Amino acid sequence: PPVTPSQLKIPTPVVDPATVPAQLVDLAKLSDSELSAGVTRLIFTDSDMAGRAYVRSLMERAGLVVREDAMGNIFGRWVGSQPDLPAVGSGSHIDAIPNSGAYDGTLGVLGPIEAIRALRRAGFKPKRSIEVLMFTSEEPTRFGISCVGSRAMAGKLDPKHLDSLADILVPDGGTFRQAALKAGYANTTADTEDMVKQCSLGEYGTYYDSFLELHIEQGPDLEDEELSIGIVTAIAAPAAIRCAFTGDGGHAGGQVMSRRNDALLAAATLTIAVEKLALDTGSNDTVATVGVLRVGPGAINSVPRTAEMEIDVRDVVGARRDEVVSKIISYGEQIAESRNVRWSHDIVNSDPPETCAPKVVSAVEAAAKRLNLGHKRMVSRAYHDSLFMAEVAPTGMLFIPCHEGYSHRPDEFASAEDIKNGIEALALALASLSLA
Ligand code: GLV
Ligand code: MN
Ligand code: MN
Ligand code: MN
Repeated sequence: PPVTPSQLKIPTPVVDPATVPAQLVDLAKLSDSELSAGVTRLIFTDSDMAGRAYVRSLMERAGLVVREDAMGNIFGRWVGSQPDLPAVGSGSHIDAIPNSGAYDGTLGVLGPIEAIRALRRAGFKPKRSIEVLMFTSEEPTRFGISCVGSRAMAGKLDPKHLDSLADILVPDGGTFRQAALKAGYANTTADTEDMVKQCSLGEYGTYYDSFLELHIEQGPDLEDEELSIGIVTAIAAPAAIRCAFTGDGGHAGGQVMSRRNDALLAAATLTIAVEKLALDTGSNDTVATVGVLRVGPGAINSVPRTAEMEIDVRDVVGARRDEVVSKIISYGEQIAESRNVRWSHDIVNSDPPETCAPKVVSAVEAAAKRLNLGHKRMVSRAYHDSLFMAEVAPTGMLFIPCHEGYSHRPDEFASAEDIKNGIEALALALASLSLA
């Protein structure tokens, strides 16, 4: 797209390459990981609460007007010259799955704060307000469901279903809302339904005019092709299945093989089938993972009585993904029958893929061109809060390279130069969207 006259009025923002990398290192210290390089920050734990305080302090230092909603989503607003217009949003998450890295999500929260500071330094004045967001629980680790905050904003979170999801952190613990209450949120809400409703951002396009998320690629393409900016055109859709096989357990010595109904053997059979069903579509875009397997009672001298699994299935083609999901479920049923164990399952979520909005895609492309940064259009194989923000307003994403494409592991890394480039492009794109 051509650089428009209004974009030409935007002074070039300059980001110091050391600032955000140092903040990311500070934030990574707020972690419960047992690995020295790893980050673990589950939602509403003490480390998450410390991370939230850190984000609020950076927002305040940047002169943003800070508010939090009933689920702990944090908003920091740079008020524009026309504050009543729908704003431009940019944000991501700081929660981190066990033993993961310092960049996933965090860059998309700290990056826009620094982008705003750079725009201020350059003398830019926004027309629409520009708002930074930190979403609650993008990661599904604690309650099994992803993007909890952004789902609620989009009106896509079923409160009854949320209440039904077990907390894996506190066994026999309460609901998401109870955890939120303990963290000091949700205290103005009557129940989960009320909490979820309070977080909705209303009709499409009324709260935000556009939304743009900065993220590490979490894949190797940009690094391989020596490009600085990935302009996301579509976001692949995840489905999550929580399921369990239940047998009767028994003594690992006393019970002969022929008299067992071993729940783990059923789960192992299903695990191998999950790989095959994903491969069978013949597309690289279909991926399926058994990321959780909990065996009970978990004793060397007991036949496994329970095997609880969490299965993640994704594709850029929603229908193909759904077919794999239904095959996994019917195969689980068959395995249970043939091994004489009981079977239960819950599809925790199965979200449609999203296409990014042309106006946001063009704003990022124009910014990359103006900064002379190598760029290309690409799809996101990981999911992000943007999947749900796309239901709130025209939405896009901008990726920067990360080392070897590593993510969700301790050696996740993005260079200071790539971070600087990403934030400068983000700043220009946000500025131009704020003038639209
Ligand atoms: C979210 O982190 C994902 O798994 O894509
Ligand atoms: Mn992640
Ligand atoms: Mn992320
Ligand atoms: Mn993600």
